[in-house]
Amino acid sequence: MPQPSSSPASSHVDVRAGTKTYRIVVGPGASRGICGLLDAASLPARRFIVSNPTVWRLHSEVFEGITREEPILIPDGERFKNLTAVGRIYDALISRSADRATTIIAVGGGVVGDVAGFAAATYLRGVPVVQVPTTLLAQVDSAIGGKVGVNHALGKNLIGAFHQPALVAADIDLLGTLPRREFRAGLYEVVKYGVIASRDLFEQVSAGLTALFAREPAALLPVITECCRIKGAIVEQDEREAGPRRALNFGHTVGHALEAVTKYRRFRHGEAVAYGMLVAAQIAVHRGVMPETERQALAAVITQMGPLPAVADLAADKILETMAHDKKVVAGQLHFVLPAGIGATTVVTDVTTAELSDALVAIRPS
Ligand SMILES: NC(=O)c1ccc[n+]([C@@H]2O[C@H](COP(=O)([O-])OP(=O)(O)OC[C@H]3O[C@@H](n4cnc5c(N)ncnc54)[C@H](O)[C@@H]3O)[C@@H](O)[C@H]2O)c1
Ligand SMILES: [Zn+2]
Repeated sequence: MPQPSSSPASSHVDVRAGTKTYRIVVGPGASRGICGLLDAASLPARRFIVSNPTVWRLHSEVFEGITREEPILIPDGERFKNLTAVGRIYDALISRSADRATTIIAVGGGVVGDVAGFAAATYLRGVPVVQVPTTLLAQVDSAIGGKVGVNHALGKNLIGAFHQPALVAADIDLLGTLPRREFRAGLYEVVKYGVIASRDLFEQVSAGLTALFAREPAALLPVITECCRIKGAIVEQDEREAGPRRALNFGHTVGHALEAVTKYRRFRHGEAVAYGMLVAAQIAVHRGVMPETERQALAAVITQMGPLPAVADLAADKILETMAHDKKVVAGQLHFVLPAGIGATTVVTDVTTAELSDALVAIRPS
């Protein structure tokens, strides 16, 4: 991995959530300094780390000295994001007599963060959780905003709570071991933030793909910080997704449907979102909401990032049917996020089946 000559400094974003504010620290080595951050945040002294075997094998040494408690490891994988995993955490906490003066530290990707966060939200009616996200997706998205939860056999993320973290430490160094496909999956979400809220970010990512893929801290730090700032600002305005938070779902209506019709086996979440963004942009151009040149810029950066799994064999009507079951259908209306150019969005409720179907066909590589 190329090392820059000088290490960039860290940065932070403060997020107001109700009456409390929590800090997101972003930077190389952010997790090594976590003891000081925990003390500064005045969090309860008894600390339990929740992680998974993959992450723990790679990075446990970073966390030496944070706690004397054995880490609570849950199995690695989306299929284990369920109440059984939450139960394992409860078992460990209860058997070690963890009381309310306990801090849970989630060290891992979005799965660990969501499961550990849900356990923290519910154990003794709630103990603080610190998120130490170790995937790019978790650093820019899932560790921020307080949505925690697990899947049910009948659907993703059906059981959950809002439980804001007490602190987030996004350590860029930990991304060095992330497989390229996982990294890229997170980068699609970064592109999403650019399209919904910041032309500057979009351009920075488009121009900086090589340095980003090389995990150069100097490239990652400003990009991750800006994503945290954008998500933090949106969440501050709308903790429970009644309005502005919907913009974060850009690309997700179609993305979720693609994941569901392929039984969550074909796509990494971000890859499905990449297609979803292309579909939404296609519809936006047709409606005259987005200039064609900007749709092309989005398509170009997605293409440059690398290959996406095939979609040619997926029937449009199957995808449409799945979309109708989307959680974002409120009182029978599908709220669909369209890009209004790069850096802005609009939410519409009148996207027709014909528009969706045409767009799904149009984005297929010929
Ligand atoms: N709560 C939210 O607001 C929110 C938002 C978006 C996504 N999510 C959830 O996040 C989950 C997806 O998160 P994800 O993409 O991080 O997947 P993940 O947690 O499954 O991690 C992906 C893989 O990378 C491994 N890994 C993690 N860190 C690593 C590292 N530093 N080096 C090497 N390997 C590492 C993991 O063990 C796993 O195998 C989904 O369950 C999704 O529902 C939640
Ligand atoms: Zn997403």
